[in-house]
Amino acid sequence: MANIKFYAGEQVPLEMHKVRIIQRLNLPDVDARLKAITEAGNNTFLLGTEHVFLDMLTDSGVNAMSDRQQAAMMLADDAYAGSQTFTRLSNKVEDIFGTPYFLPAHQGRACENIVARTYVKEGQYVPLNYHFTTTKAHITEMGGKVVELLCKEGLEVESDEPFKGNMDIDALSKFLDEHKGEVSFVRMEAGTNLIGGQPFSLENLEAVRDLCRAHGLMLVLDASLLSDNLYFIKTREESCKYLSIREITRRIADATDILYFSARKLGSARGGGICTREEGPFREMRPLVPLFEGFLTYGGMSVREMEALTVGLEETMDEEMINQGPIYIEYMVDKLKEAGVPVITPGGGLGCHVDAMKFCDHIPQEQYPAGALAAAFYLASGCRGMERGTMSEQRNPDGTEELSNMELLRLALPRRVFTLSQVKYAVDRLVWLYENRHLIGGLRFVEEPEVLRFFYGRLEPISDWQEALVAKFKEDFGDSL
Ligand code: F0G
Repeated sequence: MANIKFYAGEQVPLEMHKVRIIQRLNLPDVDARLKAITEAGNNTFLLGTEHVFLDMLTDSGVNAMSDRQQAAMMLADDAYAGSQTFTRLSNKVEDIFGTPYFLPAHQGRACENIVARTYVKEGQYVPLNYHFTTTKAHITEMGGKVVELLCKEGLEVESDEPFKGNMDIDALSKFLDEHKGEVSFVRMEAGTNLIGGQPFSLENLEAVRDLCRAHGLMLVLDASLLSDNLYFIKTREESCKYLSIREITRRIADATDILYFSARKLGSARGGGICTREEGPFREMRPLVPLFEGFLTYGGMSVREMEALTVGLEETMDEEMINQGPIYIEYMVDKLKEAGVPVITPGGGLGCHVDAMKFCDHIPQEQYPAGALAAAFYLASGCRGMERGTMSEQRNPDGTEELSNMELLRLALPRRVFTLSQVKYAVDRLVWLYENRHLIGGLRFVEEPEVLRFFYGRLEPISDWQEALVAKFKEDFGDSL
């Protein structure tokens, strides 16, 4: 988004693209919304999109593609083995990351499966800036333990710290000294998802790399949310101001031993992959690709997805193509902040994150305040967000809840998908809900899967708070949807 001033002085994020394909949306009325969320077991993952107005569940696989990506998909070379499409992708990966070895996978968690199966040994630790749900599940599945060594600002809801995704370097150094021989690898996550899409700085990543080298450990980077992190390094890290996005990308890749990503996010396509500079790790992980994913020249991706990804990766190097997400998010965060709604600051990537712990401070964590807020926000707006709190954790082996550090309602803004008026609508309804927050009540599980329960677990409201909320909506909005 170019630096274009409005004569009237208003700060407006102005898009440097135009929309050429549209999808008709439907906004169900509030009674239909109550029926839909009840049938979905109060879990927004279980809503059908026919009941959703603005889908802010995730950015995963739903970013808008560019015309060039769509065009490239038509040129795909369909072949089980040796497809030219794969060669083009693998060459692009090497061009951008400087990594000659590439293992394709069907999505990000498949890469995590391969990395964890190859390198995590029973009882070992994986220090990381912060965990992601599927990453932790794969590490613990192999008997490993995640150790979060995020900088202290990372978990502060309101902060001026530009790099809340940084690793606490002193804590990492101490941990590595005290646990020699007990660490599988160190993992950093770009655009740290569960703390609100918060970035790390290049300086911090390079400090982590230095410690890894000193201890003979591999540094693994989850680059799924790299595009937002690149934008933040470029705009927030003084020493990187004059580096191009491409140069920053290369510095990041050079600091890592293994870099993997979900192409549902990075590259605005589908699929994923693991990149390495050295042949050793490539050979160690390679056998798992044909076993779990598919042959080495597609790894579960369709050729069309691979072509779209090749173009998408190149477009990630263009600041005008990656800045729309973070700038829209900043706009949304600012508007909510002005209205007093508690949100994570500074705005990160991926989406706007509402602090449910504060929004619903009358709901105990065992009754899932962020899950309840997600259900309430759907009732109030027809917009679908995602719970990122205790529901997204797994119970402890003794059955007690693993209370999450943060209770967030994530309102993802898939890249280039929504208009500003739609963002304003979501803000408006959230402000209304905040003023009526005392009406929101808790939830309890009626069906609770053991692993990754947030995906398909079902819950019910504790009390009839949803009917009361709907009644208040009708009182305030009359016959408006
Ligand atoms: N790592 C990070 C940082 C992610 O955000 C995700 C997915 C994955 C790995 C797994 O990738 O979905 O392609 O298997 N995040 C999605 C989200 C699910 O909605 O935030 P995947």
